Amino acid sequence: MTVGEGHWVAVGETNSLRQRTTNRLRVENLDILLIWHSGQFHACERACPHELADLAPGKVIGGRIHCPHHRASFDLTDGSVSPGWSCGGLIIYPVRIQDEQVWISLA
Ligand code: FES
Repeated sequence: MTVGEGHWVAVGETNSLRQRTTNRLRVENLDILLIWHSGQFHACERACPHELADLAPGKVIGGRIHCPHHRASFDLTDGSVSPGWSCGGLIIYPVRIQDEQVWISLA
């Protein structure tokens, strides 16, 4: 599920945030992961929709983040969960780059 656009927040410099695959961010009381994968940034909620495990240590493979707890995976583009899981999808936040800064929409 992708949230609507509207309230954009700058979260850091692109060069710095590209150094890691997964950046743990706290933005306006939300725990967010900013993921650098295949030449693009993706932002998503940090808690797994299944049983709220921390997704930060999860592997990012083929455009999906894999939960380290029970191994569900979530599409980084639309948040959809892998087949066979009854939980909802992951919240995905729109990302844009402007003036060498990464911006996330929290609307
Ligand atoms: S807590 Fe993530 S798959 Fe169960």
